[in-house]
Amino acid sequence: MTELTQAPDPGTPPPETAAPRAFRTDILTLFPGLFAGFLDESLIGKARARGLLSLHLHDWRAFATDKHSKVDDAPFGGGAGMVIKPDPVMACVAAVRALQEAEVGQRTPLVLLSPAGRPFDQATARRWAAGPGITLLCGRYEGFDARVEEAADELVSLGDYVLNGGEVAAMAIVEATARLRPGMVGNAASLGSQRGLSTAAGANPDAVEESHGAGLLEYPHYTRPRVWQGQEVPAILLSGDHAKIATWRREQAEARTRERRPDLWAAYAASRPPPPAKKGRRRRRKADSGDEG
Ligand SMILES: C[S@@+](CC[C@H](N)C(=O)[O-])C[C@H]1O[C@@H](n2cnc3c(N)ncnc32)[C@H](O)[C@@H]1O
Repeated sequence: MTELTQAPDPGTPPPETAAPRAFRTDILTLFPGLFAGFLDESLIGKARARGLLSLHLHDWRAFATDKHSKVDDAPFGGGAGMVIKPDPVMACVAAVRALQEAEVGQRTPLVLLSPAGRPFDQATARRWAAGPGITLLCGRYEGFDARVEEAADELVSLGDYVLNGGEVAAMAIVEATARLRPGMVGNAASLGSQRGLSTAAGANPDAVEESHGAGLLEYPHYTRPRVWQGQEVPAILLSGDHAKIATWRREQAEARTRERRPDLWAAYAASRPPPPAKKGRRRRRKADSGDEG
């Protein structure tokens, strides 16, 4: 196996409190070079440097046994394009599983990226973020032999369109999932209760109030200047009244969701508990029944 990029050496001084375990991500790809900038820049680069994310790339061409390192072949039954052969990729999967067993004591879900998979969403990101990690299988050409699909734990699609390969989908999935891990997205003060939407808990409480965290899109943000090209920041945001700001933000989040994503709004509305019955009406009913008795 070609281990192109290793997590940083964990032999750095131990933190004062118990550090969260690194989220283990294995990516199987024929084009590991595509991940170059992604691995080292921004939050992903920092998370790797801090030992929160352990990311490993594996090029399964190294597992091809013929002299030309062939990983694809023509489809049985004819047709355009080439299909990824099962043997090299599954040999690589077996080697990755052995590494996972040795290094983290368990294997992580094998996720095959395919436009014919179930759409990836925030709930899936949350589910994976709560586990030890993920193994992502990036296809190319016409995709994988169907027997590789059978071996996968899940088939996941980034959306209803076709990419050239699974690498861009893998990057999106790693970002969306890893940022839900504790310690990944900073600044609880700016992301927490002050932002005004209190919701169900996720793996990283900081990320709950974002779009999709609680079934709603996020409310609008504004920063300086107060007036830009004649457009003013809503006065409520300058009022300093945090309770009113929280109410305004919730209303904005609900209005945006209703307007832009009726599908999300319907699911959100259906999941809300019914409003409590009004006390006055119940008293009147009691009085009514007393009259009848
Ligand atoms: C050109 S696509 C193959 C498309 C396949 N012939 C089909 O029609 O379903 C090559 C690879 O890109 C990846 N891919 C393409 N679109 C994707 C999407 N929407 N979500 C996830 N992966 C995708 C998959 O790994 C796939 O095996």
